[in-house]
Amino acid sequence: MSRRMLVSGNWKMHLNHFEAIQLVQKLSYELVDHDFEAVEVSVHPPFTDIRSVQTVIDADRLKFGVGAQNVHFEEKGAFTGEVAPEMLAKLNVGYVIVGHSERRQIFGETDEIVNKKAKAVLKHEMTPIVCCGETIEQRDINEHEAVIEAQLRGSLAGLSAEQLGGLVVAYEPIWAIGTGVTASADDAQEMCAHVRRVVDDMKKGAGDGVRIQYGGSVKPTNANELLSKPDIDGALVGGAALDAVGFGRIVQFDRS
Ligand code: PGA
Repeated sequence: MSRRMLVSGNWKMHLNHFEAIQLVQKLSYELVDHDFEAVEVSVHPPFTDIRSVQTVIDADRLKFGVGAQNVHFEEKGAFTGEVAPEMLAKLNVGYVIVGHSERRQIFGETDEIVNKKAKAVLKHEMTPIVCCGETIEQRDINEHEAVIEAQLRGSLAGLSAEQLGGLVVAYEPIWAIGTGVTASADDAQEMCAHVRRVVDDMKKGAGDGVRIQYGGSVKPTNANELLSKPDIDGALVGGAALDAVGFGRIVQFDRS
């Protein structure tokens, strides 16, 4: 089965809405129609920038997908500071990152919470990008495969075969995020293949469809090797996504 590549820029807590508009415009100069035919591209600005970014994308008919970095799982109500899935759907958000390791580690999100968020995103016809990843300590004692399997079984519990086959999982080893240290392409491939096996084991047939991104210090210089691996269907890019030229080069990895 041929899966469409998805390269996503996670801007984290960077750029106000003026800067966000500038970055989208600069990015649009780096990429041509041909790039968007080969690779789907999504940008994930902070909540306060989404409306501005979406307006520019619509007005200039740019081919980027609009994404978010987080969402609350409830429909509405007294949840001070939270953003509901429907609010994102109304802004044409297509992809929502859920369970990023920074949310899990700094804000205490559990697999159960991530699972509720994934379901809320699906309910509003957006696609969750469900993140998983092990710490260096877990890898050192050879528990990385078991940790990823437990995270996936918890975060994706109760989804149908169709839902599982249509979602995106980002495998992001925590020791590689923002550190400049990337997993070797072979290690990344091995873990992404593991993710696919686990998803397929959860619902037969879903493994073929699920798109698996690698994330963790992806840069123009390593994108080619990572993205040429059979089970790596794209990248979730943090730091390097803030530079239009560099992000453009990642999207344009050697597709020959
Ligand atoms: P990084 O972040 O590319 O800066 O390592 C990736 C991520 O956290 O999604």
